[in-house]
Amino acid sequence: MRLVLVGPPGAGKGTQAQFLAAHFAIPKIATGDLFRAHVSQETDLGLEARKYMDAGDLVPDEVTIGMVEDRLRDDDVTEGFLLDGFPRTVHQAEVLDGMLAEQGAAIDVVLELVVDDEEVVRRLSGRRTCRRCGHVWHLDFDPPSSEGRCDRCDGELFQRDDDSEDTVRHRLEVYADQTSPLIGYYGDRGLLRGVDAAGPVEDVTERATNALRRFGV
Ligand code: AP5
Repeated sequence: MRLVLVGPPGAGKGTQAQFLAAHFAIPKIATGDLFRAHVSQETDLGLEARKYMDAGDLVPDEVTIGMVEDRLRDDDVTEGFLLDGFPRTVHQAEVLDGMLAEQGAAIDVVLELVVDDEEVVRRLSGRRTCRRCGHVWHLDFDPPSSEGRCDRCDGELFQRDDDSEDTVRHRLEVYADQTSPLIGYYGDRGLLRGVDAAGPVEDVTERATNALRRFGV
């Protein structure tokens, strides 16, 4: 299955991507995670991307598209994948369609996680990520037993630089202006499935797996 996840920042894409990639046995490709790995390794790409990420803006296509093209050439994604955070504009979607067409492939389904803006702000202001193992916690919804430490590996928990309330509100504007047109793009092609992403994580996972059932192997 070739699956794209779309939804505003904080909709739970990363949280659901983990479950769905495991459930359908497909690799997860998350552009935000790829960028953050470059930032922490201080590569040229990471230094360039960071300026945009910290401001809550999209990283320019010249940087983003090449990085995804490289990843989609890897052997483990020939039979399917889950894309989290790409495409994020109609232009990126058109480029992705072109890349896949060259391989005789196409996107099978696009899952939209639907959640309102105030819930996004609540989710992102409480998000904490483990510096060591990358596990994502939430101070209210999925709290670690001690505030600054990961229960899984005892690593230090940190708050992402782009999760301050002002930056989150700007990311929501960027989503509305630049990413939400994807809903029409994929809707017109009959590829879009929307699920309500409010409520407990397990309930959202169940709705998502049900919506995708007929596309799985
Ligand atoms: P990226 O990392 O992709 O950020 P995002 O899309 O804004 O999404 P988030 O990671 O913030 O949220 P999420 O939906 O994954 O939510 P999560 O599961 O963590 O991108 C970061 C930046 O990189 C962009 O701003 C841009 O600069 C750049 N970038 C990336 N891709 C790009 C592209 N294609 N083009 C250009 N630039 C690009 O959940 C959030 C919190 O809520 C967590 O604490 C979680 O525990 C909690 N939670 C999750 N589900 C629930 C639930 N059901 N109930 C309660 N709490 C929940």
